[in-house]
Amino acid sequence: MSGIRHGLDLDQSNAGVSGTSRDMGNRSANPRQVQADDQSSGYLSRVPIIISGGTARRALEACERELIQYKAMERRLRDALAEREARLRRKDELIRRQELLKRESDHRLLNDLQMTISLLSLQSRGATNAEAASQLAVAANRVAMIARIHHRLNSYGGVQTIEFRKFLEDFGLDFSAMVSSHERPEQVVVEGIEINLPVATAIPLGFIASELITNAAKYGKSRITIRLEPDPEYGYALSVSNDGPALPEGFDPGASAGLGMRIIQSFVRQIDGALRSGRGDDGEGARFTVRFR
Ligand SMILES: Nc1ncnc2c1ncn2[C@@H]1O[C@H](COP(=O)(O)OP(=O)(O)OP(=O)(O)O)[C@@H](O)[C@H]1O
Ligand SMILES: [Mg+2]
Repeated sequence: MSGIRHGLDLDQSNAGVSGTSRDMGNRSANPRQVQADDQSSGYLSRVPIIISGGTARRALEACERELIQYKAMERRLRDALAEREARLRRKDELIRRQELLKRESDHRLLNDLQMTISLLSLQSRGATNAEAASQLAVAANRVAMIARIHHRLNSYGGVQTIEFRKFLEDFGLDFSAMVSSHERPEQVVVEGIEINLPVATAIPLGFIASELITNAAKYGKSRITIRLEPDPEYGYALSVSNDGPALPEGFDPGASAGLGMRIIQSFVRQIDGALRSGRGDDGEGARFTVRFR
């Protein structure tokens, strides 16, 4: 075979063509079989290319058609990208509006709780019966605790999980500032590990901690210790202990008629946990432990 070609042979170009002018003239009349000899395009060297006068024109036309298709595809991709960007912008706007609404409703909820606290306190002060007055004051305190928990959780900026040890530290500071007096300073110490809890667990656990800390301040002397630690069976354990008089022998939190214990039990069930009670390390005071997942 006389004409060995390098790659694709084009009619109008001599690039890569090693044929003679006679070869060129005969090309349309005598289609020839050529082989590429380029080492770098290995497979081409084994594929024979049939060329003729019309072949290059057809190749050009095919290239043009392909180019048109690519351009159409590029247009479609650009349109899809623009549509996707517009959708993302709409989504961002929706998220922003939702956050605004949430902040607004949190703000209203706190205002309403504040109003409830004021009404209960007013009613407590106006009650002629001492027992009714004290019960109304206790109710006002519970609502104040709910407001404080909501305020604390919201101040963490709409997150899905909460660093619970940090939450307890902040809450403990609020609590001791509220109940401490000059004659009786209340010290709340938080120990143990940090745990990231989902809001669905953190809120009930926050209410449980609040009731236990209130009891510890009510029945203990002046030091309250909160501990967060791993639990081999449940995963985690939260304990609240206080110094002072020892918890009565055989105390059963489940049998207690107190509203506080019933609230605690109900939230413990909600988080699928377990409550244990006993005395402190030195046999003094009390320790309540909630084990949870
Ligand atoms: N830390 C504690 N130390 C000693 N005794 C406690 C402690 N916590 C609870 N108790 C006992 O358990 C009982 C029930 O507690 P509970 O919180 O239900 O009621 P309360 O604190 O008396 O009233 P409230 O319903 O307002 O909370 C208490 O009356 C008390 O005898
Ligand atoms: Mg109580």
